[in-house]
Amino acid sequence: MARYRILVLNGPNLGALGVRQPDIYGSAGMDAVPGLVAQVLGARTGDVELEFFQTNGEGALIDRLEQARRDGVDGVALNAGAYTHTSLALADCLAWIGLPCVEVHLSNVLARSEPLRQKSYIGRHVIGVVAGFGITSYALAVQSLVLHLDARPTAAATPV
Ligand code: DQA
Repeated sequence: MARYRILVLNGPNLGALGVRQPDIYGSAGMDAVPGLVAQVLGARTGDVELEFFQTNGEGALIDRLEQARRDGVDGVALNAGAYTHTSLALADCLAWIGLPCVEVHLSNVLARSEPLRQKSYIGRHVIGVVAGFGITSYALAVQSLVLHLDARPTAAATPV
């Protein structure tokens, strides 16, 4: 059985990955992610069970995060798309669900011309951000989550 369950969660317009503005977002689809994760995790690939979900809806993203918490998912790699820059509701959700989350972007949002893309509502509630590596950003986010989860203190190691 895998040690960690990780949800790879995509927001609006990311269902069209590979087709949508490939000059910005690349021509690979989400189907490339498991292979890249295996490349990055190597011998530890079996430690991770990946779940994928994409929705165009802001509420549906929140519903899926709440479900992940109920299901005991260990961590989330979240590309919230444009909701990254606009959604207080999504930020509020991440603030309470208590799941380690990495913010993911295919493009380097800090280098893009629209100033709004440099603002993240969710950034305060994530353990880190991976941006600018195209589809590989997801694999690097999964790797970061694994290292983060490995470093969590275990119950046995917690001083009484
Ligand atoms: C994106 C960047 C966002 O600004 C944009 O709205 C997206 C994709 C990225 O992966 O680079 O939809 O999150």
